[in-house]
Amino acid sequence: MRTHYCGQVTEEFIDQSVTVAGWVHRRRDHGGVIFIDLRDRDGLVQVVVNPDADEKFAKAERLRAECVLQITGKVIARTDETINPNMVTGKIEIVAEDLNVLSMAEPIPFQLDEKNVGEETRLKYRYLDLRREEMQQTLMLRYKVTRSMRRFLDDNRFMDIETPILTKSTPEGARDYLVPSRTHANKFFALPQSPQLFKQLLMMSGFDRYYQITRCFRDEDLRADRQPEFTQLDIETSFMTEEQVMEVMEGLVKTIFQETIGFEFDGDFPRMPYSEAIEKYGIDRPDLRIDMQLVDVADLLQDIEFKVFAGPAKDPRGRVAALKVPGGGTMSRKEIDEYTKFVGIYGAKGLAYIKVNDLSAGIDGLQSPIVKFFPDQVMEIMDRVGAKDGDIVFFGADKSKVVNEALGALRVKIGEDLGMVNGRFAPVWVVDFPMFEEDEETARMTAIHHPFTQPKATTEEILNHDEPHQMLSRAYDLVINGLEVGGGSVRIHDSAMQAAVLKMLGISDEEAADKFGFLLNALKYGCPPHAGMAFGLDRLVMILGDIESIRDVIAFPKTQSAACLLTEAPGMVDNAQLQELALRFRKPVRGE
Ligand code: AMO
Ligand code: AMP
Repeated sequence: MRTHYCGQVTEEFIDQSVTVAGWVHRRRDHGGVIFIDLRDRDGLVQVVVNPDADEKFAKAERLRAECVLQITGKVIARTDETINPNMVTGKIEIVAEDLNVLSMAEPIPFQLDEKNVGEETRLKYRYLDLRREEMQQTLMLRYKVTRSMRRFLDDNRFMDIETPILTKSTPEGARDYLVPSRTHANKFFALPQSPQLFKQLLMMSGFDRYYQITRCFRDEDLRADRQPEFTQLDIETSFMTEEQVMEVMEGLVKTIFQETIGFEFDGDFPRMPYSEAIEKYGIDRPDLRIDMQLVDVADLLQDIEFKVFAGPAKDPRGRVAALKVPGGGTMSRKEIDEYTKFVGIYGAKGLAYIKVNDLSAGIDGLQSPIVKFFPDQVMEIMDRVGAKDGDIVFFGADKSKVVNEALGALRVKIGEDLGMVNGRFAPVWVVDFPMFEEDEETARMTAIHHPFTQPKATTEEILNHDEPHQMLSRAYDLVINGLEVGGGSVRIHDSAMQAAVLKMLGISDEEAADKFGFLLNALKYGCPPHAGMAFGLDRLVMILGDIESIRDVIAFPKTQSAACLLTEAPGMVDNAQLQELALRFRKPVRGE
């Protein structure tokens, strides 16, 4: 069908005859001569069709963008003034001797090089959208990432083993996707939220080092970095401590960055305890490219008249924190109002501020609606946050959760708005997570990672702990540029400890036996200490390619409402199919 790829025909081939095949990227009629840019996965090449006797020219006149052609012709040098220095093939063109239309194309719904095509249109015609150079490059990058992962893991004696997709509910804490069983009426499979329990079983079976690049399914509310079906690089090891696992995983990440985009990290990835991340950045996945930090000021404000601050300052679950924006003093009233609206999304009831005009004038040099409420403390606050003339200092006062989320997000937003994002990649290992947290609605204890993570405590201590939310776990997350790209932990390998943790989570013996009886049993028959981790492949590609939306790194993604616009899945099924599954239609509720 062809002798060369379009994008490979360079000046080396001048005077030779070549056959290329591909899509009509552009067609230009130049008074009697037709130019075609022919495109394949390697790039574009210019084809010239001269008017002559045979029907070749007539065929070329009927061509539209995206028709598929096979062209045979001679490669000639372009004249100096027609050379295109921006194209690999810009010094030559192919003079068509034979033009074969392999497939005609109807007018396409959007031009491939058009900017701002709506995402709905792009997803509906995904096969066209994927022809765009940007998407071709992204999927190539994604492939290079998985190739690099496999190579590295192979060199380090990891073995690729598949685990079931039709399985039982797994414990990552999201809602399950269910698949009804035909052969067992009223029973359901769950699609795995991760291969967590199977990879632990593989360690018990002696496989020692496992990996799998696998799909995980979570029916949760979607965001720019979440898909209902996403891909993990899933890893588990035996007889390794968290230090050793983190060292191998860091080596893996450095190899991927080096092999795919040629980026070298300087030195080891820093480590940060969870508590420090929350205190300074308000979030357990800090974007360390931005320097600004949250500073606690509650201790200074407990006894002031201003209830908005004094209330949370005295509340053990409250927080009053300041965020200094260097050089932010020039912000307009309107900009401050917009940031106030922004923090409102996170539940903040306001956004107090102090503009620092002239510190040498003391309190008179500060411009703010609130300094009048704490004149005796304000200079100490300025000192604590290291304020300088020209800065603005924002304040959040509320329940800790609200202040952390609001100021944490504001820190990143202002950092981006004011161009305060330094450097390209900022990795950090977040460690020393609490083992448990209290679910606000149910007041029940939940596991921050999952119930199979080992606490930093003995079984005795777990059972008799007075303040379980103080207990730390042997978990670790890898964060790059404020995105959680991976997480893992040392697992529990002792059935008594596992039972103690499940008890702490309020899971009864019957429920435990029903949900993960197989794992609890397996723990009794010789279980090696084991630890592992999983990376979000999609997120890693987003970071490597500097791509904002997770949908742009997946060939056939789902929309924000978890639908596929291309295939129109999910779709209806007929009654007979439902009957076979012992299911019945439910009348949709209005608005569904
Ligand atoms: P976790 O739930 O943290 O851990 O998931 C691991 C990584 O998967 C990515 N990720 C997602 N990516 C896209 N869309 C989603 N909906 C989504 N959810 C998670 C993140 C995350 O860091 N079994 C454990 C791992 C372990 O302990 O070994 C687990 O699944 O990048
Ligand atoms: P008010 O007394 O409600 O007019 O608030 C005075 C200032 O405090 C305004 O700038 C508000 O935006 C700000 N403010 C109100 N509630 C909070 C809060 N919970 N945290 C931080 N600032 C607040």
